[in-house]
Amino acid sequence: MSAGEPLIGLGVSGGIGAYKAVEVARLLQKRGYRVQAILTRHARKFIGPLTFEAITRRPVITSQWAAGMNADIEHIALATEMRALVVAPATANVIGKFAHGIADDFLSALYLATRAPLLIAPAMNTVMWEHAAVRENLATLTARGVHVVEPGEGYLACGWIGTGRLAEPEEIAEAVHRVVCPAGPLTGCHLLVTAGPTREDIDPVRYLGNRSSGRMGFAIAQEAMRRGATVHLVAGPTPVEPPAVTTLTRVRSAAEMHAAVMAGAVQAAVVIMAAAVADYTPAGGAHGDKIDKGGPLTLTLERTADILADLGRRRHGAPMPVLVGFAAQTGPPVARAAEKRVRKQVDLIVANDVSAEGAGFDVETNQVTLVGASGHEALPLMSKPAVAAAILDRVEALLTAAARA
Ligand code: CTP
Repeated sequence: MSAGEPLIGLGVSGGIGAYKAVEVARLLQKRGYRVQAILTRHARKFIGPLTFEAITRRPVITSQWAAGMNADIEHIALATEMRALVVAPATANVIGKFAHGIADDFLSALYLATRAPLLIAPAMNTVMWEHAAVRENLATLTARGVHVVEPGEGYLACGWIGTGRLAEPEEIAEAVHRVVCPAGPLTGCHLLVTAGPTREDIDPVRYLGNRSSGRMGFAIAQEAMRRGATVHLVAGPTPVEPPAVTTLTRVRSAAEMHAAVMAGAVQAAVVIMAAAVADYTPAGGAHGDKIDKGGPLTLTLERTADILADLGRRRHGAPMPVLVGFAAQTGPPVARAAEKRVRKQVDLIVANDVSAEGAGFDVETNQVTLVGASGHEALPLMSKPAVAAAILDRVEALLTAAARA
């Protein structure tokens, strides 16, 4: 989980359902979100911060006045960064405070300090749930655009049977996701993404490779999953773990990647070639035996097939599948990327200068220029997940245009 993934604030208030919030955190993370847990004083009577810390892998906010934390700065930073605030369980007390703008602890102050959408998953005793004060407070919040994940019916901890039980974690996580990521052109779309390096074997122990980590392609795959696409990820041997996707195909060489992509692309509406595919491979294939060292060694290399260009040719000028390639260069990228886009018959080239600080291989950030048919757009230095989101915004626009064509 890296720094650029969307951040969700998870407020937990003091109800018996507080333990279910741990599962909400886990499910949000599974969908590719970072989670910042905020526990109210009463929540801590039901569940300990350590549980959330272990799951979210970040310190839990438990108080506005915690030692070492500049509360004002902390809640403003979080308020700006988070994409949604979800409170589960939301007690009658918290709902009342939100409705009336009372900011007497971190969570209630955070609600006032953010423009991020708020979701509440109420949980309380049936009589409290039906009380006019709670109904009015909920009506106030709903009128303000707050999303309510309705409580379910069933046995309540207090022994009653009725409405007031916290909604199931899956329902809460899904509601958050729908608010952060409404259905768009990629929802239900089939995407093929490649990532990582390829290895071209010289003999049984040696190979030609490159420094690609796979992070850029993985970030694209994960963002596409978040947008509701089905994702086929074709990955070379990467040092980092791939995200959860619909289908993962591991390949080793450029030839294997070529075969996997050409077969997989038949069903795809979009193909994004983020892999650093080897341009050359030892002519005639790998030696069967380990090459003994002696004097200087000369290797004869031959060109690999260009997968992206083959996809471009196979498309015959049709708008689908939308094709996106990368161009890794040292030096200013635009002119060569524009030429490459036309030559390979693709819609978009993501060009980067891999010699620039913080860009390219083996780092968490990237600075790219998107080169399309109608010009280019230079993006600032961003995390790879943020670059992935920008690329997929462009892909969505291309899909919309292709659907109209
Ligand atoms: N690519 C491919 N098949 C290859 C080589 C590259 O599909 N055999 C794809 C890559 O996945 C990437 C794009 O083509 O999307 C990169 O094109 P390439 O011409 O290799 O550009 P650069 O990496 O920028 O390198 P060069 O300096 O050789 O132009």
